[in-house]
Amino acid sequence: MSKYRPVYVSKTVGVRTAILPRPRPRTMDAAVKLGFLGLGKMGLPMAQRLLDTGFSLTVWNRTVEKADRLAGSAVEVAESPARVAAATDVVLSVLRGDDAAREVFNGPEGLLSVPVEDKLFIEMSTLRAKTARELAASCEEHGARFIDSPVSGTVGPAAEGQLMALVGGDEADLERATPVLDVLTRSIVHVGPVGQGSLMKLVINLPLAAYWQSLAEATAMGHAGGLDLALMLEVMKDSGASLAAFPKKIPEILGESQNVAFDIDTLHKDVESILATGREFRIPMALTETVLSACESALESGLSSADAVALVRFFIDSIDEPR
Ligand SMILES: NC(=O)c1ccc[n+]([C@@H]2O[C@H](COP(=O)([O-])OP(=O)(O)OC[C@H]3O[C@@H](n4cnc5c(N)ncnc54)[C@H](OP(=O)(O)O)[C@@H]3O)[C@@H](O)[C@H]2O)c1
Repeated sequence: MSKYRPVYVSKTVGVRTAILPRPRPRTMDAAVKLGFLGLGKMGLPMAQRLLDTGFSLTVWNRTVEKADRLAGSAVEVAESPARVAAATDVVLSVLRGDDAAREVFNGPEGLLSVPVEDKLFIEMSTLRAKTARELAASCEEHGARFIDSPVSGTVGPAAEGQLMALVGGDEADLERATPVLDVLTRSIVHVGPVGQGSLMKLVINLPLAAYWQSLAEATAMGHAGGLDLALMLEVMKDSGASLAAFPKKIPEILGESQNVAFDIDTLHKDVESILATGREFRIPMALTETVLSACESALESGLSSADAVALVRFFIDSIDEPR
């Protein structure tokens, strides 16, 4: 068993923290230049928040046009990850997953294709722990520092600086990252050495993924027996079968809103990472296998860009008329 004791840095976790005054963010030396890679659903509001709180950014996104959505003048758009690394001291990345992160770090015009000694990379994508450790080793070979800091929370909390950062890495590197993470989060949890932040994130995502599929099966059963979907969701919201993320998702489940915060393609990627990690540790994961099959069926039906909660409607719709 690990002797590592998790440390909550600067803030505490819990619902109450959201309504308490936030501690003043530690200030980062104004001369520190900040880079940001990945302006997707999460990256864009996170980058915008950094700009809104006074940071200057050099940004890169594979689809360059997405950078146009950033408001403010303190932003430079770079042509490649290499240009971001060359122009900055601390670089955050919020990318789709393991392959994207490997490409962005190790590709021909990647972050590590230029001198990066003493630069700090804060990798915030949801990755497998082993990928985070590989990236850290590559950074070390180039004399750079690396922490993995995936986040719990979705697009709304990203815009409001209310994410939870799950950090794996050295204490000194986290200390250096804290002024930036403070702006993006309601809490920062130092869970262990590099990779442990990523493992913790997958631990969170498994019950969340299973929840949507269990909701799908439960409501399909009720629907088949003649219960109204909206009524079932309202009753569940007020019961022990609710989950923090559930009430806000009711309009999407009912098809009244098409907001997409976390898409099925990303959920599928995370479920695959969970299963690969489970295999590594020889953990039987029959439930997760079922969730993977549900994601695959949804992907085959062209739902890759739909919000994860579309799994619920997809499952109900796959069942015949009420019986
Ligand atoms: N959405 C959420 O609620 C949420 C919550 C917590 C954690 N996360 C994690 O945060 C990360 C980003 O999620 P997201 O929802 O923002 O995803 P997203 O909207 O799909 O954005 C993905 C980002 O990765 C970039 N990308 C994809 N493949 C790439 C490649 N091969 N090379 C370079 N860049 C590549 C995309 O660039 P393009 O714009 O060119 O496609 C985009 O900037 C994921 O790891 C996800 O698991 C998401």
